[in-house]
Amino acid sequence: MKDKIRWGIVGPGSIANRFANAVKNVAGAEVTAVASRSADRAREFADKHNIPNAFASYEEMANSTAVDAVYIATPHPFHKPYAELFLKAKKHVLCEKPICVNAKEAIDITECAKQNNVFLMEAMWTRFLPAIEEAVRVAQSGEIGEIRGVRAEFCFYSSPSPTSRLYAPELAGGALLDVGVYCLNFVAAFLGNDPEEIRSIANVQNGADYQTDVLLKYQGGAIASISAAVNVSKPVVGYVYGTKGYIRVPHFFGATEFFVNTNNEERRVHKPYIGDGFEEQIEEACSCIRNGKTQSDKMPMSESIKIMEQMDAVRKQIQLVYPFEV
Ligand SMILES: NC(=O)c1ccc[n+]([C@@H]2O[C@H](COP(=O)([O-])OP(=O)(O)OC[C@H]3O[C@@H](n4cnc5c(N)ncnc54)[C@H](OP(=O)(O)O)[C@@H]3O)[C@@H](O)[C@H]2O)c1
Repeated sequence: MKDKIRWGIVGPGSIANRFANAVKNVAGAEVTAVASRSADRAREFADKHNIPNAFASYEEMANSTAVDAVYIATPHPFHKPYAELFLKAKKHVLCEKPICVNAKEAIDITECAKQNNVFLMEAMWTRFLPAIEEAVRVAQSGEIGEIRGVRAEFCFYSSPSPTSRLYAPELAGGALLDVGVYCLNFVAAFLGNDPEEIRSIANVQNGADYQTDVLLKYQGGAIASISAAVNVSKPVVGYVYGTKGYIRVPHFFGATEFFVNTNNEERRVHKPYIGDGFEEQIEEACSCIRNGKTQSDKMPMSESIKIMEQMDAVRKQIQLVYPFEV
């Protein structure tokens, strides 16, 4: 294996810029190509980030020898087809969240990665943040007692626009898949991935969930709640509640610190990430690829599939079906 994993970017949109910048901070990685459906957009992005290869189609990059791995940064419904395109071309894949739009698709691409013996992981960068990993360790240490509940809130206001990725039904717009997925991952980090019961309520308008709240009950009785929205301003925050105290993680989407509250006293734990927060997941992907692993132990596909199953269950309850699923 080469010294550096050579990454190609699939879709030079908004988040792709962050990935391109983060790779510059990862010693064992470099971005060697970008692909777009437009030659001009690929060239513009390549020039901006000093990337040597600009491809005018995704297929061209899949067939090239310029990359070992790709980062898929297209809107959600295109994660599956582009993952399959690159996996079949024997490129390792780090795919933006949500891994797909439903569990069936996630299972299909997992099978495709297996068949082609290449690496596949959802880019769930928040699971790799040092502050989140440390909060999990503190929760598991028993310092706040037995875990009885978790709450995760990720809401923001964005002006409704039928053409925006956040609101367009044909792009699987809405809060659940865009930010609810982070809340469910926060809950899963502390309570695992097998809720016995799920109850959901949502404000669905024009084929997208503007606001979705979910309650989840786990074996042993622990209860989690999540709040996801694209039409309301709220602080992004996570809580883990135990029998002896609780953990508060302000801005768990990019956390650099958290607070442990026991006996009416608050202890601050400062665990910043290096760079801009994407580096840890890129390092994990590179390390797995270098070591011939096809999945990450920290964020295996089984984890992504279970979260997709939870989101499928929520969507069934709130009767949200995307037009391309009918
Ligand atoms: N990890 C995070 O913090 C984070 C933050 C934001 C978004 N995301 C995820 O990243 C993904 C992309 O989000 P974004 O906000 O970067 O989106 P965006 O700005 O709209 O960019 C998406 C890119 O996908 C490409 N694309 C390929 N096929 C497309 C199609 N049929 N329709 C529209 N675009 C298509 C487009 O590139 P060309 O047209 O040039 O080919 C476009 O530049 C989403 O799945 C989102 O959930 C993650």
